[in-house]
Amino acid sequence: MKVTKAVIPVAGRGTRFLPASKSIPKEMLTIVDRPTIQYIVEEVVASGIEEIILVTSQGKSAIENHFDYDFELDTILKEKNKDQLCEEVCNISNLIDIVSVRQKKPLGLGHAIWTTRNVVGDNPFVVLLGDDLVLSDVPCCQQMLNLFDEFQESIVAIQKVPMDQTPSYGIVEGKQLRDRVFEVNRMVEKPAPGTTSSNLAIIGRYILQPEIFKLLEKTTPGHGGEIQLTDALLALSKQRPMYAYEFEGTRFDAGDKLGYLKAIIAFALRHPTLGPEFKKHIKEVSNDF
Ligand code: G1P
Repeated sequence: MKVTKAVIPVAGRGTRFLPASKSIPKEMLTIVDRPTIQYIVEEVVASGIEEIILVTSQGKSAIENHFDYDFELDTILKEKNKDQLCEEVCNISNLIDIVSVRQKKPLGLGHAIWTTRNVVGDNPFVVLLGDDLVLSDVPCCQQMLNLFDEFQESIVAIQKVPMDQTPSYGIVEGKQLRDRVFEVNRMVEKPAPGTTSSNLAIIGRYILQPEIFKLLEKTTPGHGGEIQLTDALLALSKQRPMYAYEFEGTRFDAGDKLGYLKAIIAFALRHPTLGPEFKKHIKEVSNDF
């Protein structure tokens, strides 16, 4: 079955990023020349997905506006003969169809995904978390879709993390089937130190079977008092096979201040026009401060 829809939850308040995220959504913070959310949307588009469902909340309309057509800006740029810039800005609104669903209460990631049930319908779908930026040759979402073609079952993206970082992630325990591919046996959201022997951490990319919605409905608050996607995934993994995929690429936690800075450096160094000059500058100033 072809996967055509992607869910991107953007309803969170971004408390890890205060004060920067006080009056602008953290997803709109800039990495080089575009907001972080645009990188996620571009990953989805490059992977052949046809529709995005944003899960939003109050104060997030800047995200919807960013992907909308801005008639006034278009007119101004045309009048000033800034054709290239005009095309670049206009292209953002033509990237893909986007619909929004409101998460009315901050009840957790699992609840955010559940709010999209009527729009997603009875189809497998992708979930991308906006905090996780992945720099890779083949888009992370595309890598997962390639594996889905083979397995036709739910897949979570993982990376190996140092054991002392496991309490910050959803952790998968499973059996390795081949290079980068595991069958999931158990998963736990942010395990207490010493309670798991696995270091396979869930990263914010998932392909989910629609059965997840029924399970989310029954999921009671878990870690942090929130309805956790990981808890519903564990229940799903007991009903049908689930796989974990160690993607190729580098992941940045752009929802964390240090992770965000690392992402800026990496994306700036790879930037086609700014990259070479920026690299020179970084070398020059690295011992100055
Ligand atoms: C969420 C998920 C967690 C996952 C993480 C990846 O947690 O609940 O399982 O490991 O994203 O970024 P959050 O970081 O939103 O607390």
